[in-house]
Amino acid sequence: MDKGKSYYITTPIYYPSAKLHVGHTYCTVMADAMARFKRLQGFNVHFLTGTDEHGQKLQTVAEEKGMKPIDYIDGIVESIKELWEVMEISYDDFIRTTEERHVKRVQGIFNKLYEKGDIYKGEYEGLYCRPCEAYWTESQLVDGKCPDCGREVKMEKEEAYFFRLSKYEGRLIDLFEKNPEFLQPEARRNEMLAFVKQGLQDLCISRSTFDWGIPVPIDEKHVIYVWLDALSNYITALGYPDTEEGMKAFWPADVHLVGKEIVRFHTVIWPAMLMSMELPLPKKVLGHGWLLLDGDKMSKSKNNVVDPAMLIQRYGVDALKYFLLREYTFGQDGQFSNEAMIRRINSDLANDLGNLLSRTVSMLEKYRDGIVPATRSVDEYDESLRQIMKAARDRVANHMDSFSFSLALDEIWKLIGRANKYIDEKMPWKLAKDENSKDSLDACLHNLADTLRIVSILIYPFMHTTAIEMRKQLGLDANVKWEDAAFLDQMEGIRVQKGQALFPRLDVEKELEMLEQINVTNDSAEENDEVTNELEEKPMIEFDDFEKIDLKVGLIEEAEKHPKADRLLLFKVRLGSEIRQIISGVADSFTPEEMKGKKVVVVTNLKPRKIRGLESQGMILYADADDNKVRLVTSDGEPGRSVN
Ligand code: ME8
Ligand code: MG
Repeated sequence: MDKGKSYYITTPIYYPSAKLHVGHTYCTVMADAMARFKRLQGFNVHFLTGTDEHGQKLQTVAEEKGMKPIDYIDGIVESIKELWEVMEISYDDFIRTTEERHVKRVQGIFNKLYEKGDIYKGEYEGLYCRPCEAYWTESQLVDGKCPDCGREVKMEKEEAYFFRLSKYEGRLIDLFEKNPEFLQPEARRNEMLAFVKQGLQDLCISRSTFDWGIPVPIDEKHVIYVWLDALSNYITALGYPDTEEGMKAFWPADVHLVGKEIVRFHTVIWPAMLMSMELPLPKKVLGHGWLLLDGDKMSKSKNNVVDPAMLIQRYGVDALKYFLLREYTFGQDGQFSNEAMIRRINSDLANDLGNLLSRTVSMLEKYRDGIVPATRSVDEYDESLRQIMKAARDRVANHMDSFSFSLALDEIWKLIGRANKYIDEKMPWKLAKDENSKDSLDACLHNLADTLRIVSILIYPFMHTTAIEMRKQLGLDANVKWEDAAFLDQMEGIRVQKGQALFPRLDVEKELEMLEQINVTNDSAEENDEVTNELEEKPMIEFDDFEKIDLKVGLIEEAEKHPKADRLLLFKVRLGSEIRQIISGVADSFTPEEMKGKKVVVVTNLKPRKIRGLESQGMILYADADDNKVRLVTSDGEPGRSVN
């Protein structure tokens, strides 16, 4: 394999704790576009993704569902692979950290670090809750007690293995100072440099309070810390330390693409591990920003997510990919907005691109029987379009090489916009009426078809299905070559053929309404949030229906008035280790002070909804009374315990 032409790109391996949301697809879509771009340029690309399947959190999630971790995880991983299939993500390898190949290689890596003298046995000291078998930090405690069960915690010590992270402090500082390419954007690099300069402590890399992990090879009572396990995926997938071929072909990675919240693991712990193994460091770690929903990070644990499958079903894979890559600036956070998405689909895809193709093909059919004529003359309008046609490919490539997906697409849309304007300038319908303008019309039609040919190459990394559909209508095969995008006058004699519209025009208002109904966090449920004080007879329901309701004991830890509504109170309710925000229309009945510390009964599996701009993640039960005030329904059970 020609090493000089290899390109290795990775995404984070996602936690299969719940189905993925649009935030995850954002990172994977960027990696896919880059992988496709590099392949088109002739690189031997290796694109790795996968799932991070160990650790206490996943064990707990599975147990809460009454399942064995692997059974629960298998289901989620299947849904993730299905999503990538629908989105046509072109990964070359998908690694699961529970796979045998990974497990034994991580143990091999542990041994390497150990043999190097970088792992030693020490004592981990912390505040320990015996019944929960968990360590907590001071700041995680609630009233000095275990945040999960509310019981006493005690300072305890246990044997654990440590990695000599501190030993690599100087080399890490050097890395950030001397190699600005290593971590971008710049702001992240400054953060990490400051972090390392504060001084690094050795890292505890084993756990013995749970067992869902890879056993420490020299001491099977312990499992390996999940981040050591997860980060190793980037090389275990290449065969390290068992086989050399994959490492020779693709290591060091060209880029690890990661969200900004995990930059620290990738630029401090991971390089130190590699230094210890005496392996080269990845060339680049890129920390991308977050997609936000109502200003908050879209997140599995916060339940404020947008389902990519739903968007794809309505608008198609390419529209979603285009929106994600065009709308957001790499490295910065961005607000996810249905309206921005619908508008972009309409203006950029249906109008600018779709119309250019359909107008061009129609005119060719109308004026030249569907055969593209030759260019024999060049006037000033032709010249100005042709300059942009010639320059577009390298401009796009430059932006791609700095991961500026949005600017790369912007360049392509400048060309599309210029071509649309060119039609208005040349007015082919006028030229068609004048025998003396035959050459000028020929040139116009050729340049338009040729522009679309170039566009079909340039958009290929981002939207390959659309690119191929365009080429079909242009009479071109699916064999897209990046070099071809810089040559002009390639279309003479080719027969075009009208096809379906690339992107149907959407009715903005109607779509927004639809999306709001689908989206769990929409505002439209607001009117229904009346607290009914009447005694109501409700119809008989089946026992099974009652069983669907999840009722739990909750402890109100905080209470305050809703900032936007006098009748509403806003609570922070503890259910076991989880804290929910719940809104009730009971300000007439209680003061916030009265409610604090009360134990209540909560419907916990009600779909979250927004009430006056804030999300309510469940419902507290109250009893009706004659004085227009409600009474609390309380329980003396433990917070988080089931009531029904
Ligand atoms: O952190 N906006 O997994 P994870 C943009 N298993 N990107 C988002 C996002 C959002 N709102 N939410 C998630 C882990 N992401 C570890 C990684 S790697 C050795 C181990 C993307 O399931 C983003 O890329 O929490 C983020 O870094 C990643 O998903 C985290 O996924
Ligand atoms: Mg995360």
